[in-house]
Amino acid sequence: MKILVLNGPNLGRLDLRDSSIYGSMRFPQLQEFIENSAQEFGLSADVRQSDSEAQIISWLHEAADSHTPVIFNPAAFTHYSYAIGDATAMLKAPLIEVHLSNPLAREEFRHTSVISGHAVGTIAGFGPDSYRLALEAMRTLLRA
Ligand code: DQA
Repeated sequence: MKILVLNGPNLGRLDLRDSSIYGSMRFPQLQEFIENSAQEFGLSADVRQSDSEAQIISWLHEAADSHTPVIFNPAAFTHYSYAIGDATAMLKAPLIEVHLSNPLAREEFRHTSVISGHAVGTIAGFGPDSYRLALEAMRTLLRA
């Protein structure tokens, strides 16, 4: 079963961000970690990253049309993109929101998610393991 793993702005430059928050993994390594974790759970991860709101919306439309499950780190779009929130509302298969850090333990503007209300659940604060835990949860959801 294919899972679309979407990543929002600035995650492609992960190794250049604050390492005390995001660790030191480069995005290609994170991508490999997600792909390998998916295989462990008998899933196949199609990992994509974009800094563009329009691109992410069009990937979400694609996932809605093909009934593809989505694991999504919307990055800063989490906190204010109603357009992306509306696109997630149209998904037909389960959506799990993930974050490397725990936004609730950070600045106040990060305490709002316009995506969470459309997700089955959110996994945040475990670094790359947030994606692994999300894949495990997705496998359970898809088996049910
Ligand atoms: C993030 C948290 C967001 O608040 C932030 O804007 C990001 C990354 C995370 O994975 O911890 O870019 O989504």
